[in-house]
Amino acid sequence: LWQLLPRPKSQPPLVWHWIPYLGSAPAYGRDPIGFFSQNREKYGNCFTFILLGRRVTVTLGAQGNDYVLGGKHTQLAAEEVYSPLTTPVFGKGVVYDCPNEKLMEQKKFVKVSLTIDKFRSYVGMIEDEVKEYLNGDPEFRIWQTNDINEWGSFTLDVFAELTILTASRTLQGREVRESLNKNFAQIYTDLDRGFTPLHWLMPGLPLPSYRKRDAAHKKMSSFYQSILKNRRENLAEHEDDDVMASLMKQKYRDGTSIPDPEIAHILIALLMAGQHSSSGTLAWAMLHIAGRPDIQEALYKEQMESFGTPDGGMRDIDYEKLRELKVLDAVVRETLRIHPPIHSIMRMARDDIPVPATLSAPSEDGVYVVPKGDIVLASPLISQVDPAVWEDSDTWEPLRWYDEKGVAAQANKQYNEGEKVDFGFGLVSKGTDSPYLPFGAGRHRCIGEQFAYLQICTVISAMVRRCEFRLEGGVPKPDYASLLVHPLPARIMYRRRKFD
Ligand code: HEM
Repeated sequence: LWQLLPRPKSQPPLVWHWIPYLGSAPAYGRDPIGFFSQNREKYGNCFTFILLGRRVTVTLGAQGNDYVLGGKHTQLAAEEVYSPLTTPVFGKGVVYDCPNEKLMEQKKFVKVSLTIDKFRSYVGMIEDEVKEYLNGDPEFRIWQTNDINEWGSFTLDVFAELTILTASRTLQGREVRESLNKNFAQIYTDLDRGFTPLHWLMPGLPLPSYRKRDAAHKKMSSFYQSILKNRRENLAEHEDDDVMASLMKQKYRDGTSIPDPEIAHILIALLMAGQHSSSGTLAWAMLHIAGRPDIQEALYKEQMESFGTPDGGMRDIDYEKLRELKVLDAVVRETLRIHPPIHSIMRMARDDIPVPATLSAPSEDGVYVVPKGDIVLASPLISQVDPAVWEDSDTWEPLRWYDEKGVAAQANKQYNEGEKVDFGFGLVSKGTDSPYLPFGAGRHRCIGEQFAYLQICTVISAMVRRCEFRLEGGVPKPDYASLLVHPLPARIMYRRRKFD
């Protein structure tokens, strides 16, 4: 009933709920996008809801993105929100279990490990992994028979497997790739099952999945530390050139090397951060490709034009050419526009923080103030499908990203009306106030963007040149039950192309 009492005018409107502690958790958990959209219609771009006893203030639209992602770290902190989820999984001393300045150093260590030369070598490794997978996995039995007339089908789990195989072969290093056996898969699964909204919002429940998560973290951490020990002892034998090798050489600003447990935990963080986001994006992209024969044909033609050989075959994919493929680029951009894996980006308000007047509308009594202790939440997904910004906003249409000359046309409303909208020329804009931010922005911007883009583009290329795809039953709906949005289970039909 306290919801009916008059509240300070400076506070954003509160979403009505019946059960005090639970608040709007069921509606938000079931369909966060529907929840945001409905409340945006009722309350405007800024409102508060209760999520399991916590107050969460949502700020939507490009300005809402800017408010949360561009906020000062002294005022809006990520670690206070994310740490209960990430620390038991990644481990101590890294990412959100350390001061933000240390995280910034750790991000820099990883970024400098990912050089263009490494990316060049990764493309071939990723294509090899896809080839081996098609040749060996039972889901591709029909492909293996060489029959170009018969259709087979595979589940979306293929993309989770391809993601972990390609990320471990490239980013994670030789030993991790060689250890991808049943035992590793079990440890990974136990860790992954502890990376859910429940484990985040209700840390420390006495349930088996929490105990399994903690045991799996210990095993995973010792596994990486034993590789580190081995490498140090046999330094002369192997001169590895991967992220682990690079982290072993780097030093914090105070001159200290990164301790082995921290290197291990950074690598676990990279594994977990990249796995669901990349595999989900791949699955969505391939579902849409399978459902749009015209785009599929354009992708195949682009492969032939860029890599075709005079005898009708195709050269291996290479990094420089891959970056020039306009149709492929548009497919990935468009997939990340309507299916960004992260629908909610959160920070904790360390102070009372005013919300810009433009977000406070329809209040005429001055600006809203987010009280200290609130979680603030931005959802770039909302601005990425906002009909006020994008033509035909809910439709997957890669053609919006380029015209027939191959120039990015960015067919969205403001652009067409001559207003300058900053989407950046790279995959995404550098600013925090863009309506298109699948990799976030500001100090917590994703460090895996370039790697993920390369991994996704290479896997799609490697598959599209070898198979035709078809979709029966349409693109499935999103599954919001997991932390990162995935499509609900579906099968994709495939048929072998002549190309080998
Ligand atoms: C952060 C998206 C792949 C590592 C983020 C954030 C987004 C994002 C939106 C910002 C979160 C926030 O501000 O709270 C994506 C998408 C991916 C992807 C869409 C793939 C399609 C990867 C990969 C890696 C990675 C492959 C590792 C190699 C990270 C890390 C952060 C991060 C470590 C945390 C940065 C921080 O808090 O400062 N990612 N990511 N991501 N991403 Fe990614």
